[in-house]
Amino acid sequence: MKGKVCLVTGATGGIGKVTALELARQGATVVIIGRHPLRTEGVTEMIKRETGNPNVSYILADLSKQAEVRRAAQEFLSKHDQLHILVNNAGAFYSARQESTDGIELTMALNHLAYFLLTDLLLDTIKASAPARIINVSSEAHRMGTMDFNDLEGKRKWSGWRMYGRSKLANILFTKELARRLAGTDVTVNCLHPGVVSTGFAANNGVFGIVMRKLMDLGSISAEKGAETTLYLATSPEVDHVTGLYFDKKKPRESSPISNDQAAAEKLWQWSEQKVQQVSEQQAA
Ligand SMILES: NC(=O)c1ccc[n+]([C@@H]2O[C@H](COP(=O)([O-])OP(=O)(O)OC[C@H]3O[C@@H](n4cnc5c(N)ncnc54)[C@H](OP(=O)(O)O)[C@@H]3O)[C@@H](O)[C@H]2O)c1
Repeated sequence: MKGKVCLVTGATGGIGKVTALELARQGATVVIIGRHPLRTEGVTEMIKRETGNPNVSYILADLSKQAEVRRAAQEFLSKHDQLHILVNNAGAFYSARQESTDGIELTMALNHLAYFLLTDLLLDTIKASAPARIINVSSEAHRMGTMDFNDLEGKRKWSGWRMYGRSKLANILFTKELARRLAGTDVTVNCLHPGVVSTGFAANNGVFGIVMRKLMDLGSISAEKGAETTLYLATSPEVDHVTGLYFDKKKPRESSPISNDQAAAEKLWQWSEQKVQQVSEQQAA
């Protein structure tokens, strides 16, 4: 991976942290995005120390806020003129409905729109760096996701799992639509289920989070194991020209019927563009 520039979101813990660590161990230049200054700096220093790779740096951003996604992209582009591997990994589950500071349902803001906007802002550089790869961390939870385009943010009907499932379904629809749009370029985009992984996932939900973590930990795999499919998609020559697929345990896997619905993918793309545009106009006003 020497000479490759990689950007990993959500690398302060869990699957993202192992992903960044292993990419750095393989010699890549690694940039991580985190939202807590001390934690993000600490992980960056740990990765440098553990791997002996000095080319590891960080950018601070709360990715649920579109202004911060834009600032993070700008900061990245001001320091790097190439991006070979983008790993959209930062994600969360919320047990109560919340809205981001942009007024968007928080699960969709972080788990889907941050992937969409960050990728869009970096896409010209990714294309210019080809061969390049985009990897979107999704989940088997997408199978309980539906796309109710009249109520995508769950204003009328909301549950944590419903929105989480929807956001992870959105990751797959986004991956497939982006792959179609990138046809003819040497940029691939794939998504994956990492397994049920022992991480900090869902721990942000008070007592509910503690119980959920204990239940998840019963049958879970380690973060090292959980990062394997992401790392496979980021580094393996076996997937050099493979694009638009959903992977599990380093193998392509059929995702839910709706995740293969091209009309739904196009509609989600339009909705995402509108949301990004609306927020940008609000902030300019
Ligand atoms: N764990 C599982 O069993 C499992 C299963 C299927 C899919 N996934 C997916 O795997 C991905 C990684 O999750 P994980 O299990 O590694 O969970 P995790 O340990 O909670 O890690 C999530 C990462 O996302 C970051 N993050 C959360 N909110 C953020 C925000 N607003 N802005 C910027 N960064 C933010 C966290 O940063 P902080 O350190 O600041 O919180 C952390 O680095 C997610 O997309 C998740 O949906 C996980």
